[in-house]
Formats: sequence, C-alpha cells, structure tokens
Amino acid sequence: MPTAENRKSVSELLGALIEAADGGASSPEFMRKVRASKNELAGIYWDSIGSEPAAQLLALKTLNLLLARRDFFHRAQRAIASPFGLVVEPSNGCNLACPGCVHSENARQRNVFDWSPGMVKADLMRDFLDQYGPYATHIFLYDYGEPLLNPRTPQYVGWAKDSLALTTISSNLSIKKLDAEAIVESGLDYLTVSVDGATQDVYQVYRRGGDLGLVLKNMAAIADAKRRLHRNTPIIQWQFLVFEHNEHQIEPAIEMAKRHGANQILIASPFDVAWDDPTIRVGTRNSHEVVVFDFKDSYLEENRQRFVDSVDKERVRRFFEDAWSNDAVAISSEESQSKRADITCHWLYKNVAMDATGRVMPCCGPPGRDYDLVLGTFKANSGSQDIFNTPKYRAARLGCKIEDEHGSGTEGVALEGLPHCLAGCTWGKGRDDVISKPEHSVAMITEATGEVLDPDVCSWLGDW
Ligand SMILES: C[S@@+](CC[C@H](N)C(=O)[O-])C[C@H]1O[C@@H](n2cnc3c(N)ncnc32)[C@H](O)[C@@H]1O
Ligand code: SF4
Repeated sequence: MPTAENRKSVSELLGALIEAADGGASSPEFMRKVRASKNELAGIYWDSIGSEPAAQLLALKTLNLLLARRDFFHRAQRAIASPFGLVVEPSNGCNLACPGCVHSENARQRNVFDWSPGMVKADLMRDFLDQYGPYATHIFLYDYGEPLLNPRTPQYVGWAKDSLALTTISSNLSIKKLDAEAIVESGLDYLTVSVDGATQDVYQVYRRGGDLGLVLKNMAAIADAKRRLHRNTPIIQWQFLVFEHNEHQIEPAIEMAKRHGANQILIASPFDVAWDDPTIRVGTRNSHEVVVFDFKDSYLEENRQRFVDSVDKERVRRFFEDAWSNDAVAISSEESQSKRADITCHWLYKNVAMDATGRVMPCCGPPGRDYDLVLGTFKANSGSQDIFNTPKYRAARLGCKIEDEHGSGTEGVALEGLPHCLAGCTWGKGRDDVISKPEHSVAMITEATGEVLDPDVCSWLGDW
C-alpha cells in the first residue's frame, strides 16, 4: 500500500522533472534527469505495489508519458517518447460489409481505400508488442478488420497484457467459430460488440452480412464463460450506433443487452457514411450515452493483478535498463525544438496504428487510393525499429508546424511525397479527441500503482 511518504517522494521526483520539462532544459540534459529518476521511481512504485518488474513497467509508462508531453509542447519533429496508445490489427479482413468501411461493397468496387485482407503473422505481432508494449498504457487490438476472425487473437491479447497495458477489442461477434473461454482467459479488459439493432431486418441494414442471432449467442456464451471461470472481464459493451433506420429500437436493444450478459450499452452517434450509401443517414438522437448494468473498478483491478503476478522479470529488467540509454536520440531531437506552432495533430505524438501486414499509420484512418497515410513499415525479426520517427513521420510533424507558420522554414526535411496528414487531412489538427487520451493513461497508471500520484502531477501529465 502507498504511504504518505511514498506519495511525497513521487511528487518531488516527478515535480523536478516537470519543472525541467517546462523550463529550458536541453533534450540531452532532460534525458539525463529522466534516466537518473528511473530507478528511484520504480523503487517507490515497488514499495507501493509489491512487485519489482511491474513497478519497472509502470515507471517506464509514467516517464514515457512525461516525455510525450514534452515532445508535444516542443512540437518535436523527432519524438523521444514512444507512442502510449497502440492500435494493432490481428486481421485486416472482415466477414461483414458495413457502409463507409473499407469492406463496404461500394467502396471496394470504387477502389476508394488502399486495403488488403490477411491475418497478422505471429512474429510480427510479437516483435511489435515486445518493443512498444512496455511504454503503452492502452492497446487496442482492432482497427479496420474483424479481430476475432483470427483464432490467435486471444493469445495476442495475452502478450499485450504481459506489459500491463489495458486491452480493448471491438468485434461484430457474428463469428461462427468462437472460443468464448479463450477470450475470457486471454485477459482482455474491454470487449465492444457492434450491434446496431434489435431485430435481424433492422440490424442488417448497416451490419451487412451479419447474423444477429449468432451475435447474441456468442455474447451470451462469453458472459457464461465469465461466470464459469469466475472472471469479471472482459467488460462487455454493446455498442449501438444511432441511424435513422434503427432509432426506434434503442429501448429494446437496452433490454436485450442486459439479458444477453452485456455489462453496459453505449448509444452513440456514428460518423456520416452517406458518401458511401446515401440511404444510410445518421439518426437525430445525437448522443454518447452509456447505460451501465454491472460495472465495478475492481473488475479491472482483479484482471490487472493476474498479470502483475506473472510479469517476466528478466525480460522487463533488460528492457528497463536499456530504456532511453541512447543519448543520440535526445541530441537529434534538438533539431526541431525551435518554433512552436499552435496547431498540430495530437495523433502524431500519442498513438500509432499497425495493420496486419506491418504498415504503420498515425491514426485510425485507413489509407486511401488517393492519399498516403502509411508512414512506415514494421518488420518481423528485424530488431528494434524506430517506426515513430520515420522520415514521413517527421515530415508530418514538421508540416503541421509549417502550415501554422505560413510556409516558413523547412528545417531540412524534404517535403516531397507528403503524407495525407499534410496534403489534405483536416481531421486531427488542433483536436484532441483521440482514442488514447493522456488523462486515461494517467488514470490507468494511478490505479495500477495504488494511487501514489498526487492530483497536481496527474493533471500535469494528463491534461494536454
Ligand atoms: C471498423 S470497426 C472494426 C472492428 C469490428 N469489425 C467491429 O465492427 O466492431 C471499428 C469500430 O468502428 C465502429 N464503426 C463502424 N461504423 C462506424 C461509423 N459509421 N461511425 C462510428 N463508428 C463506426 C465499429 O462499430 C467498431 O466499433
Ligand atoms: S464489422 Fe467492422 S470491420 Fe467489418 S465491415 Fe463492419 S465496421 Fe468494418
């Protein structure tokens, strides 16, 4: 349990780093302070949670968040931090064809997106999670495919949990062969189930090719497996996207969700997909409401504790010792600290998305035939790779600055072959509605370390 003394020590330690981050410390100077604090922070966390490797992982996540904040406010072209939110795709393919999605019939015929099917190879997933998992607070094992088409997805969730990150999957759950027990045992924290209707005829207007009966059977099977295995996770969230054609079924869906073992239901406004199918119109009920049937914070705590108890001590020790040991990164990040733009894209500093083939994107937008969102490629069996600082990533970060500065100063990065971030995207600039908000990361770390961070430190780390 954390003591008042522990809390005070963490405040002083992180307070000094925060002062250095906000002050004029150069990157190498700042990194020396971070390195010098690593062991002490892990030591205090250890005292608080009783596991040395878990404490080391959580110290890395905390310091990485601090570095990410500094990179962001310096508008660093080369990030020192690793992404704290990971999006990884177990399967690019999907069995459904919802309008607006990369799998929609119309989008495929018109060749709108640059997307191909395929399952991720195990060594690619392993290497990616090995390198980036220890810094991440949240790992989303889905993006534009159906994750539960891949029978190895529960195993991949387990690998993500080995780094003590929170894990989330969204699934259509219209899956013929589903291993409910494996999903429950995997350690998955959240399972979102996409069901936008309470009867087959209404449901299939959007979820084309989906079988509502099968979805409900699978949801109930997962809820049953939780009961049988005495687990309270994954938290099952029925997600109901509100369109004109299904608005009248919200109330029955709430009832059905409860009956089929969901912990909660989210009633949410979708993105407009009329560009793809004009007959599908967003509903008038503009909302983001969660109706909770059964949720306790302790459900997530119990799940975390299972993995705290089994962290691989030797792997984490090696990782912890190596982290940020290379001063060259800090020195090369100096090149871009001169000007500060008011406008930038938060995604470029917070998250990274990798599809099943290893293509790396800055956000959850899919690459298109006419626009380039692929900022790099992660390769299996190739050792440590800096996919967060590829030339295209750096150009994208720099370009946001240039846009704000009306074209002045290129700071040595070639701006040919601009990624979509610069060439046309208007979505992310100046907005912070990312899937991995830092405040959620701080909450995760605070809970995992037994509330050892004080409110001032939390708001500094989380509010940006
Ligand atoms: C592209 S899907 C991939 C995961 C999985 N196949 C599924 O549908 O749950 C990712 C998320 O986008 C959601 N989604 C689909 N259409 C949407 C829309 N028009 N607006 C907002 N979210 C949407 C899905 O429900 C899901 O939660
Ligand atoms: S189920 Fe998910 S991935 Fe599949 S088409 Fe629908 S939104 Fe896209």
